[in-house]
Amino acid sequence: MDNSQNCKAKVIAVCGKGGVGKTSISAILVKILSSNHKNSVLAIDADPAVGLAISLGINIKKTVDDIRNDIIQRVQSGNTDSKTEMLNMLDYEMLSAVEEHNNLAFLAIGRPEKEGCYCQVNHILKDIITSIADNFDYVVIDGEAGIEQVNRRVMQRVSHMILVSDASAKGLNVVKTIKDVADEAIEYEKLGLILNRLRSEAERLHVSVPSELNCIGWIPEDDTIRSFDIEGKSILDITDCSAIRASKKCLTEIGLFRQAV
Ligand SMILES: Nc1ncnc2c1ncn2[C@@H]1O[C@H](COP(=O)(O)OP(=O)(O)OP(=O)(O)O)[C@@H](O)[C@H]1O
Ligand SMILES: [Mg+2]
Repeated sequence: MDNSQNCKAKVIAVCGKGGVGKTSISAILVKILSSNHKNSVLAIDADPAVGLAISLGINIKKTVDDIRNDIIQRVQSGNTDSKTEMLNMLDYEMLSAVEEHNNLAFLAIGRPEKEGCYCQVNHILKDIITSIADNFDYVVIDGEAGIEQVNRRVMQRVSHMILVSDASAKGLNVVKTIKDVADEAIEYEKLGLILNRLRSEAERLHVSVPSELNCIGWIPEDDTIRSFDIEGKSILDITDCSAIRASKKCLTEIGLFRQAV
């Protein structure tokens, strides 16, 4: 079912092979989108290693998985709250897990769930995340390498798939697979590929990208991104750098940003 018309938020999932720059690019997108104070932005760190929290300099108090474990414990200890009470509690708990900084909110998913018989709870969580997302203009999801989390556990519906690859054949192969899976499983509206850590326009021209991957631009190897990462500083504190300028062009290309003229 396509329910994209009912959803206010533009839900942007950043996907790709491990280590290609998904978290850095997610943080840059969050920075660009939230620097317009009219935009409300929710950043979702769907990576158990909580990389996005670090890149944005956000301190996580509680993750979605912590909440889920609390609920499981309540059920196991024989607490028989009605479904409505349970839902109200989840709603409240979930909102308390959202860290808010002016027009930017942040939610961390936490470590991967264990297999078990609590799919009911997982469904409720998924619904609540979706309902929280509807309170924002933009939701940026930084996931684990691959698409399973976005597809099954966190967000059923993504409006913008941002694929990230380096110039390697391996990176491009992974994004091609992700696109194939997304075409089957997700009703996204737009998809675009960002090539990251390129050295020059000449290198970009050298990389052969299948047209269905819709390359929306490339981001250069950038010393500011590198040094902020080494020093553990927040990408939100970068005033300007070549990676941010290039990212703005990519977002413009896919209709998520309008460059000032
Ligand atoms: N354009 C860039 N210029 C310089 N360094 C970059 C750039 N993009 C990413 N990096 C660096 O590359 C490394 C990996 O980036 P990042 O953590 O964003 O990748 P990832 O895809 O999220 O990795 P993982 O799959 O492990 O979550 C980091 O050290 C980051 O600072
Ligand atoms: Mg990452």
